[in-house]
Amino acid sequence: MNEKSADSHKPFLKALRGETLARPPFWLMRQAGRYLPEYRAVRTKAGSFLDLVYNPGLAAEVTMQPLRRYGMDAAILFSDILVIPQALGVAVQFEAGEGPRLERFGEASPLPVLEQKAFDKISNPICETVATIRARMKDEKFSDTALIGFAGSPWTIGCYMVEGQGSREFIETRRMAAAQPERFAALIDVIADATVLYLRRQIDAGAEAVQLFDSWAGILDDHSFRRWVIAPTKKIAAALKESHPHVPVIGFPKGAGLFLPEYAAETGVTAISIDQGVPASWARDVLQKKLPVQGNLDPVLLLAGGAALDAGIDAVCAALAAGPFVFNLGHGIHKDTPPEHVARLAERVRGWKA
Ligand code: CP3
Repeated sequence: MNEKSADSHKPFLKALRGETLARPPFWLMRQAGRYLPEYRAVRTKAGSFLDLVYNPGLAAEVTMQPLRRYGMDAAILFSDILVIPQALGVAVQFEAGEGPRLERFGEASPLPVLEQKAFDKISNPICETVATIRARMKDEKFSDTALIGFAGSPWTIGCYMVEGQGSREFIETRRMAAAQPERFAALIDVIADATVLYLRRQIDAGAEAVQLFDSWAGILDDHSFRRWVIAPTKKIAAALKESHPHVPVIGFPKGAGLFLPEYAAETGVTAISIDQGVPASWARDVLQKKLPVQGNLDPVLLLAGGAALDAGIDAVCAALAAGPFVFNLGHGIHKDTPPEHVARLAERVRGWKA
């Protein structure tokens, strides 16, 4: 069967193919998460965050939750970017309230290698989640809703592997990348190769588009940005294009600012997701002429609600909805967001008219 034509009516996929739609399709980064009481209930039942990620039935359930409430045009697989280090044999933990902790890749650590058994152990349950979500979407008649798979970009994954935890500046990672570029390049290559295999599996299991989260793209100088962000992203996009030419790849180089035009021109991504630090009118004039744009409402406006939220939504749509566009936030939903503010956003985006 030709899956592509069967699903080509989905508004989210149409926008990523470059169509301008009468009203913009939308989804929200971190749309499944702690701001939803039904998520918190399932999370408690699962035990830890990672127990939830590796339980296909429950991970599929939390993926569906925001769709049932708000009817987004796309769902995103419930998982995390740090499953790739795990698949490479690195110990990863999520400390309650503290964020992730990883076994560090230090100066003397052996280079991680992709071992099929460890990789399967991580990717099998996640791909089962993908297939379960597609089946539930069908059962629950979300026939216009697309499913997004994702991974972290090699640079951002490398940041967590070297630092061993989150950081504001990732000084040790940047130091290693500068001081031992060959060693760091070898690490980035291992991550990039694992990411290609992993995303191919997600697509084969039912993901209809994929997003590469490069959360720490914004802390590099131009030489480093080209080497650690643009080059590995280009490699991944090319590999996916070869194996799955019809599956859109969305790049999200958060904080990339003045590097965005080069990222858009060089990486080969299908569409670009922008954070709230990018003026929407600039994105329209510079980026949207070349490729579909996704973004970029400040998630803080979803905390605020009311007139500020309405005005923010209108401004983003007014700037970008006249071209190929997917409405989203500039970054993930904050955990203290009132669910009724998300309902207000959904209603307003759905009713948007130029
Ligand atoms: O709804 C969705 O967007 C899909 C699921 C998703 C999660 N993480 C679930 C999650 C996605 C796409 C991610 C991506 C991710 N994970 C990124 C890139 C995007 C970004 O936010 O910049 C990064 C850097 C991570 C790593 C990560 N995971 C951190 C730093 C944390 C702790 C911070 C926090 O919010 O607690 C996580 C945990 C995490 N990933 C949660 C969720 C819902 C919260 C865990 C919980 O339920 O306790």
